[in-house]
Amino acid sequence: MPRACRDGRIRRRWCARLVTLACAFLALAWFSRAGLAHEAISTELTWTRDVSRVFHNRCSGCHRAGGAAPMPLTTYAEVRPWAKAIKHQVLTRRMPPWGAVKGFGAFRNDRSLSLPEIALISSWVEGGAPEGDREFATPFHAHDGDEAERQAGRMRVRGAHVLKQPILAAGVSVGASVRVPWLQVTAHRPDGSVEHLLWLREPRPPGMLDYWFLRPLALPAGTRLVCQPGSAQVDVRLADEQAVAGRPGGQSLPAE
Ligand code: HEC
Repeated sequence: MPRACRDGRIRRRWCARLVTLACAFLALAWFSRAGLAHEAISTELTWTRDVSRVFHNRCSGCHRAGGAAPMPLTTYAEVRPWAKAIKHQVLTRRMPPWGAVKGFGAFRNDRSLSLPEIALISSWVEGGAPEGDREFATPFHAHDGDEAERQAGRMRVRGAHVLKQPILAAGVSVGASVRVPWLQVTAHRPDGSVEHLLWLREPRPPGMLDYWFLRPLALPAGTRLVCQPGSAQVDVRLADEQAVAGRPGGQSLPAE
């Protein structure tokens, strides 16, 4: 037999083997898809690739070992059993607790979920909350806020409070004891200008919740800080210790 002919037959035999192999792979792929369908997964979204980042940013600060919330939500194994409850909590905007009315004050630690984030979490839960490829997993790293924030001074405001000294206000902290249907904090400067600091609808902070302004706010002596309703109280947080030297300067007056 001429050599070229024999080579051609060998090549054809190899081709046939390759086709068989490819068919086997296709069949395998088809079966594993059928297996997934059996678990009622109907979404492309996965924990590792899409959802975990949102949780790490918006939930795990409280939902972690030693955090303010009762159970950790840092890994797939921890989150999966809560999937239904999570969907309910984010759709009703109960979690993450934030409550600040948009446009009244602006905060650098705003952790409320955007609409696309809410849609992402709820579609993922509805689609069977799949884990996805573990290679894509990003582990959660706890960071306990920065030191300056923890050290920031506090000035308690209940009703109206007139500043005797200028301050640099960094934010407002609201305690869990606040039991009011709404809460508003404003600053009225002697020149008549008004700063809208914080407006909470149905405040229900778990423990102390801090609202840090985008930028510290200079408030001169004579500024009237007003917290309404008069039965509520908040802590105005102070940006630097120098500005705080006069604290607790000023006196609390009954709200008008
Ligand atoms: C500021 C802290 C804080 C953050 C941030 C937070 N949680 Fe919570 N969460 C809590 C606390 C405290 C509780 C228990 C008391 C309660 O239900 O209010 C709770 C309870 C829950 C519950 C259980 C509710 C039930 O059925 O009883 C779920 C589910 C939940 N959180 C999901 C989330 C998700 C999802 C996020 C992020 C999108 C989130 N939480 C962010 C503090 C937080």
